[in-house]
Amino acid sequence: MTDILSAHPTTESRSSWTPAGGLPATRSVLDFVNAGVRLNSAVLLVLGAAFIHLVVAPEHFRQYAPFGVFFLAVGCAQIILGIEVFRRPTRKLALIIACGSLALVGLWFASRTAGLPIGPTPGAPEEVRMTDVICNVMEVLSAALFLSLGVWPAHPKRRRLWVVGVSTVAPVLLSLTLTATAVATAVNAMPEAANAAPAAEGQPTTSITGLVEGPGSQPVKHFTLIAAETQINGQSVWAFNNTVPGPELRVNQGDRVEVTLVNHLPQSTTVHWHGVLVPNAEDGVAGVTQDAVPSGGEYTYEFVARETGTYWYHSHQLTSQQLRRGLFGALIVLPERGQQPEQRDYTIMLHGSPGNVSINGVADNLHLDAEPGETVRLRLINTVVPSMDGGPEFPVLVGAPYRVVALDGRDLNSSDLLGPTRVPLGIGQRADLVFSMPASGGVRLVTTEQSSAPSLGLFGNSRPRLASVTLGAGDAPASDVTSAPLLDILHYGAPAADEVASAPADVTADVVLDAHSGIRDGEVQFIHTINGQASPSVPPITVQEGQTVRLHIVNRTGEYHPMHLHGHVLSVIAVDGQRVAGSPVHLDSVLVGPNQTVDVAFAADNPGVWMFHCHVLLHAGKGMNTTINYVGYFTPFDMGTRSGNMPE
Ligand code: C2O
Ligand code: CU
Repeated sequence: MTDILSAHPTTESRSSWTPAGGLPATRSVLDFVNAGVRLNSAVLLVLGAAFIHLVVAPEHFRQYAPFGVFFLAVGCAQIILGIEVFRRPTRKLALIIACGSLALVGLWFASRTAGLPIGPTPGAPEEVRMTDVICNVMEVLSAALFLSLGVWPAHPKRRRLWVVGVSTVAPVLLSLTLTATAVATAVNAMPEAANAAPAAEGQPTTSITGLVEGPGSQPVKHFTLIAAETQINGQSVWAFNNTVPGPELRVNQGDRVEVTLVNHLPQSTTVHWHGVLVPNAEDGVAGVTQDAVPSGGEYTYEFVARETGTYWYHSHQLTSQQLRRGLFGALIVLPERGQQPEQRDYTIMLHGSPGNVSINGVADNLHLDAEPGETVRLRLINTVVPSMDGGPEFPVLVGAPYRVVALDGRDLNSSDLLGPTRVPLGIGQRADLVFSMPASGGVRLVTTEQSSAPSLGLFGNSRPRLASVTLGAGDAPASDVTSAPLLDILHYGAPAADEVASAPADVTADVVLDAHSGIRDGEVQFIHTINGQASPSVPPITVQEGQTVRLHIVNRTGEYHPMHLHGHVLSVIAVDGQRVAGSPVHLDSVLVGPNQTVDVAFAADNPGVWMFHCHVLLHAGKGMNTTINYVGYFTPFDMGTRSGNMPE
């Protein structure tokens, strides 16, 4: 047997290498690395990998017992062999460990690409997680070191003990850091199961599954939304009925809306009715109000459209991925037949990403008809998925004075006539603009983005985007939209009674928004927190039916957070302590700017378990979610890897 080191390893021998087994000393790059350091590093890396395998063994055991046994065996074998090669370093053992490590890496690679023929999901590739990536990196590194020891066992220079010691510091730190990170990501893995509102013990609780639309004789409007992968302009998207945005659903106030979702996607999905006051069980949130509809499955939603307004719908399963891929569309509730005041009524859906905004599927100019003298309503819906700063869109209308008659589908009181004004719209928010087509016959809608980082100024100047809308045959006058004034929702329109805003609060809850780097869901993330916790650990806000609830939202970040509450209407009370002095403002998504504070109130009049989250998908996907839970109700649905329900 050829020793890597000398025949009788002692402390001395670890620092004074001789050519092993009479092999000629090979001068190579590796001569820079002392064989002792290589051995120590390789052993440390293997022991680190062993530790990681032991840490994840119980989790694998729960999923599929043979895998648990395998991880336990691999961990133990690595420890025994690692210690053995350290005590009696032989070339043979080094090569055995190297080959074993590479075999493990190969097995891992197969399980993440082709999938293994056995296990809980045979033949399906498993998810790549940070823990296993780190563990494999450690195994590859240690295998490389062991192989190098097999090929260039040692070289003849005498080394002093302290040189070996000092050179081992770096590998020790590296192994410790890698092991610690891998273990931390394993321990903070995505939860197997989390319940937003478990049944209370010893108290009667009602399942939210019973909170459906009761029977009634309303006229029925039935739609079918087929979710499928498709190609649009050479790009692969996920779409409803093969269009992005999905088909516009137009109904009348008082209609009974029935929508059948047919899932032809390779992934489970849902549909959520953003802003619509549906009964809880129809809310479409995976893991909170239903199980995600599996690939190949169907699900029917049913609700009565009680309030007019501009709304939208989108997937609420893996929202941060599925919405971005194209699973969204507009939902418009018109007044009862014949009651609509405007002659033209257009939906303007802004979508895409900040660098690539489209309007109703058109990336440059969308042209719409309107004759001079006609009244026009533009229903703006912002679904542009912002980058990390969460920045809103700032649409501006040029060519005709206009009124902002509704925000988030709710009418404002006596809206003032405006010149070109930027209307800040966070993702999820809507604004209805009404104007009369001028004699010149040309009106233009431009959307702009903030030109500086939000932290450098709350609402600075804007930059126009490529996508725009023109209305009518004429040309709109040129106008500098980038410095147009901003709509000030605190002082717009005329004051009116707002019972919810003025009622004394039965419950007041602080909602502190913050962000920091850390490990969540098995990844290093820029974690977004509510009251110091990331979902699913954020404590819910508990309310009782009939209460008036106040939320004091404090943004401690330099980002924008459009905070969206499902199933309820938020009355804005104050922004940065300044009270609403114009029309009451009723929203379902309230834009909280960098370091701003916003006070809102809502009437707890729709029982169930309701999502309350930032609509910036990057933020929601990194923890900025919680729920409003009504006392006396529980959800039987779980989020997490076991159910596959991932609402964020
Ligand atoms: Cu527009 Cu919770 O969603
Ligand atoms: Cu946010």
